[in-house]
Amino acid sequence: MDFTIPEETRLMLQSVRRFVENELEPISRQVEEEDRIPDEVVQSMRELGLFGLAIPREYGGLGLSTLAEVMVYEELSRTNACFRTRIATNNGIGSQGIVLDGTEEQKRRYLPRLASGEWTACFALSEPEAGSDAAGIRTTAVRDGDHWVINGRKHFITNGDIADLATVFAVTDPQKRARGGITAFLVERGTPGFSVGTVERKMGMRGSHTCELIFEDCRVPADSVIGGEAMVGQGFKTAMKTLDKGRLGVAASALGAAQRLLELSRDYARQRVQFGRPIAEFQAIRFMLAEMATQIYAARQMLYHAAWLRDHTGRPVTGQAAMAKLFCTEMAGRVADMALQIHGGMGYMKELPVERFYRDLRLTRIYEGTSEIQRLVIARELLKE
Ligand code: CAA
Repeated sequence: MDFTIPEETRLMLQSVRRFVENELEPISRQVEEEDRIPDEVVQSMRELGLFGLAIPREYGGLGLSTLAEVMVYEELSRTNACFRTRIATNNGIGSQGIVLDGTEEQKRRYLPRLASGEWTACFALSEPEAGSDAAGIRTTAVRDGDHWVINGRKHFITNGDIADLATVFAVTDPQKRARGGITAFLVERGTPGFSVGTVERKMGMRGSHTCELIFEDCRVPADSVIGGEAMVGQGFKTAMKTLDKGRLGVAASALGAAQRLLELSRDYARQRVQFGRPIAEFQAIRFMLAEMATQIYAARQMLYHAAWLRDHTGRPVTGQAAMAKLFCTEMAGRVADMALQIHGGMGYMKELPVERFYRDLRLTRIYEGTSEIQRLVIARELLKE
């Protein structure tokens, strides 16, 4: 195991950190208030190559290893979570179906546009009746000559309102479902019958939108099936493989936020004076800082190891990705709680970013598979051995 990254990637991480400190952090509060990322900032993200981190070089991306990619997410997640979410669908769940299972033609058509950030992608799996039970989706696709006709509703779709391309999962054989009866389709914005429904109001993650997508007799050509004709019915596996990778990204975002919360807590504890002394001198505070640092250290090793395994073995990391997501996100929840406690009343105030991290982090234990689903996946992998 070696977590050394190439010099070129190290330099990139440094520029991402500078970008976070100089351009993203100063507008973090504005983004929170306005619930949108300014266009010029999205443009700077494009210029840095952030939309194509995980897309292979031959299709215009940076082709980073999974290890390097999670390190970039860690840096980006030191500020408002919405910035990572803005690029995450292009690098993760919105593009990986094409990267992993797409035809050469689909790769050539879509990946360069996603890598440059010209287009935004989203992943449309969840439905009102099918969240954790992804195989229970009700959206259908029926073959009609050289087209498929999609009908159904998706919800909680990150970046759905701004997406130019959606990976849409639909039932094509109700008898087979997860085993040969769910198909993944690429649906472009503007396709008749495809529209955006409600944009949800959320507890946090402001600046990142979560939407309903509606399909009403939406006709897509037969070559919209990810992987082509041979992959009709194989979409559930595409979704699961995509989520295996996506979960590492969510783990990294939780880790980056936890690291920032530790640093904020350490700095606050040094300057906040009570009973005539900085509170960092009190054992109760020191123990919390020590606990936070230890948990972050353990989580980082686990995440890097899972990413490294994915890069070096070529084998699925289903169990490891679920463990990394479970551990990193639950750890970040505990760290956020301690950070708020160390900051006392100030931690609860909007003046400091701690309360925002606390709210935003809560989602990491839910999206791309709840903690309970991660435990289920881990146990199944264990019992397979
Ligand atoms: N890789 C490849 N194949 C896989 C796989 C994986 N990781 N996991 C399962 N499969 C295959 C199985 O091998 C099986 O195929 P075979 O019979 O041919 O072997 C088939 O898929 C069905 O698998 P299961 O029997 O395990 O299926 P299940 O119905 O029991 O469900 C589950 C498994 C793990 C619970 C799955 O439903 C799941 O992950 N649920 C959570 C869904 C989720 O994470 N949703 C989040 C959506 S994205 C989001 O939140 C963000 C956004 O922007 C919308």
